[in-house]
Amino acid sequence: MDLITKPFNDYQLIDHGDGKKLEKIGPYLLNRPSPQSIWPRKDINTKWNQTDANYFRSSSGGGHWEYQRQLPESWIIEIEQLKIKIKPTGFGHLGFFPEHIECWKLITDIIRQSKQTINVLNLFAYTGVSSLMLTGEGAKVSHVDASKGAITWANENRALNHMDNTPIRWILDDVVKFVERERRRRNTYQGIIIDPPSFGRGPKGQVWKLDDHLTTLMAYLIDLFKDAPLFFLMTTHSPQISVPGMHNYFHYFFDHLGGEIMCGHMLIESLNRLVLPSGIYGLWHADIS
Ligand SMILES: C[S@@+](CC[C@H](N)C(=O)[O-])C[C@H]1O[C@@H](n2cnc3c(N)ncnc32)[C@H](O)[C@@H]1O
Repeated sequence: MDLITKPFNDYQLIDHGDGKKLEKIGPYLLNRPSPQSIWPRKDINTKWNQTDANYFRSSSGGGHWEYQRQLPESWIIEIEQLKIKIKPTGFGHLGFFPEHIECWKLITDIIRQSKQTINVLNLFAYTGVSSLMLTGEGAKVSHVDASKGAITWANENRALNHMDNTPIRWILDDVVKFVERERRRRNTYQGIIIDPPSFGRGPKGQVWKLDDHLTTLMAYLIDLFKDAPLFFLMTTHSPQISVPGMHNYFHYFFDHLGGEIMCGHMLIESLNRLVLPSGIYGLWHADIS
């Protein structure tokens, strides 16, 4: 089943096409690259000419922002009652991926229905929006990321929501190294979230390549998932993973647990009602009685 993020107060996808997407994020109108949007734009004359900032990718990698008017260095938006810091970064990212919201709603519902306090492992956890949502449902979250900047940002998001006393453990580490260590310690989790990029690096330069490492990581994670597992969510923007590919992964690793598997596209609906494909998700969850 595909999941569609619809426009909401602080986030609206206005239009997309010709390799670009136009988004209103809080009060600001931003134009960013969207390589998958190869179709023509609907409405090139109006809003597209009123942008506050445009991001351009360079052919040598990276890119830069050009500002039509002065923007603050960062600003706050609200997502599902959480305040989140938005900041244009050198990579063109902003600190959250709106396409993940519907996946997070599914797992917060599962936690709520289960009425359990669970341990969740959040890998490649970035700026912590999912960690905050889950801890808001009473989960204890171990949040792992290789970037000190991402963990500082996640901690700022926690402070913005006055959630300083919620049980989130920030772990600055390489995902594979951390999971290997957790296996040796025989630690277990009831919920696991993983948002693997195609390529990344651990804090000591360890190389993460989805093609080479995902299967081994999944096998390790199944070892951490032995004590009353409740859910496993994978989201990715990696072009190597298709919806049938995600199905194959999930059936291989989760069929022995029973429960239910869901896989599909993550889509964002624009104001002109055309959806923008924005990655793939897979979710396994236990039967909840
Ligand atoms: C949110 S994920 C991927 C985001 C999105 N799905 C994409 O493909 O662009 C990116 C995060 O993974 C982290 N990361 C990358 N490689 C890592 C590694 N080997 N260990 C831990 N975290 C890593 C990065 O620091 C970053 O915060």
